[in-house]
Amino acid sequence: MKVKVGINGYGTIGKRVAWAVNKQDDMEIVGVTKTRPSYESSTALREGHPLYAAHAEDQENFDKAGVKTQGTLDDLLGKADVIVDCTPGGFGEKYRPIYEKAGVKCIFQGGEAHEMAGVSFNALANYHEAWGAPSVRVVSCNTTGLVRTLFPLQQAFGVQKVFASLVRRAADPADKKGGALNAVEPSLKLPTHHGPDVKTIMHGLDIQTMAVVTPTTLMHVHCIVAELKSTVTEKDVLDTWSSSPRVKLISGKDGVKNTGQIMELAKDLGRARGDLMDIAVWKDGVKVVGNTLYYYQAIHQESDVVPENVDCIRSMMKLEKDNLASIERTDKAIGLR
Ligand SMILES: NC(=O)c1ccc[n+]([C@@H]2O[C@H](COP(=O)([O-])OP(=O)(O)OC[C@H]3O[C@@H](n4cnc5c(N)ncnc54)[C@H](OP(=O)(O)O)[C@@H]3O)[C@@H](O)[C@H]2O)c1
Repeated sequence: MKVKVGINGYGTIGKRVAWAVNKQDDMEIVGVTKTRPSYESSTALREGHPLYAAHAEDQENFDKAGVKTQGTLDDLLGKADVIVDCTPGGFGEKYRPIYEKAGVKCIFQGGEAHEMAGVSFNALANYHEAWGAPSVRVVSCNTTGLVRTLFPLQQAFGVQKVFASLVRRAADPADKKGGALNAVEPSLKLPTHHGPDVKTIMHGLDIQTMAVVTPTTLMHVHCIVAELKSTVTEKDVLDTWSSSPRVKLISGKDGVKNTGQIMELAKDLGRARGDLMDIAVWKDGVKVVGNTLYYYQAIHQESDVVPENVDCIRSMMKLEKDNLASIERTDKAIGLR
């Protein structure tokens, strides 16, 4: 029997997770919530997801617009084994007791604090920590990106120390909120929270981060300096990432020099919604000097966490013991391999 999954908050992340869950053969979406009718509630219905009002008071909006719902979040909780909370950052705290009362496992996203969920998750690095857990947080897009490339390096060579500068997109493409239209804004509280967030998964890693927000919507770019525990060549590093899941080596020499071209490549590859769920690493932007590795990577913030949510469900629901087997199964089903 398939695991029954509900999505609370059908926005940028929620709609992608719902799509990816329904592509798997061991889980299914039993419903998604919206607070109001919109093009996204139509998307939900078109993709075959039963639609629920997030709150009882939202129901009237749907009725007025003639959009049929199957009830409210409370009704959805009665049908789900696990709920993936994709509400805006900070709402998780309000919802957690509601999920707990309903006896439903819950997954939160990177906008919530580690302490709120108790376990932070990345499928490659700490799949086992979510095994059977009642609540887990899938870490943010930036943390997911850092862990995807640093964990394989740690396994292969050992990592002494990391420094990363994050060049952040100001908002998602469809957002009306976000940063300044024509200015670059550094995060003045240093070091930034991204380093400690990586340590919720790669415990004990020595990592420091800084960040600036830039007026772009497509992707984040990370400039990373990693001091390794052994002497390696650029080829050793590229070979390691070549065999790591959800890392895509790209090349400036092939004309993929910027984030716009990466997103165009994702469309050319026929990826759903034009997303790039893998972390893009410029292979001709990798340099080793002694034990120090320098590299750049780009993060498609709207989608890299999506397959992680699927694997997180598998670990929490004890569907697959081996993380690499879960990753392979997820990725095959959604066209990443
Ligand atoms: N976007 C990213 O770059 C990104 C990347 C990684 C992780 N995350 C994290 O993922 C989470 C969701 O982010 P997002 O970017 O998907 O946000 P989003 O696009 O704003 O989507 C959130 C959705 O939740 C719905 N919502 C609002 N209030 C709600 C409520 N009280 N109850 C239920 N649903 C409600 C909204 O839809 P309606 O009001 O129309 O129903 C909205 O579309 C956050 O924790 C965020 O930090 C985001």
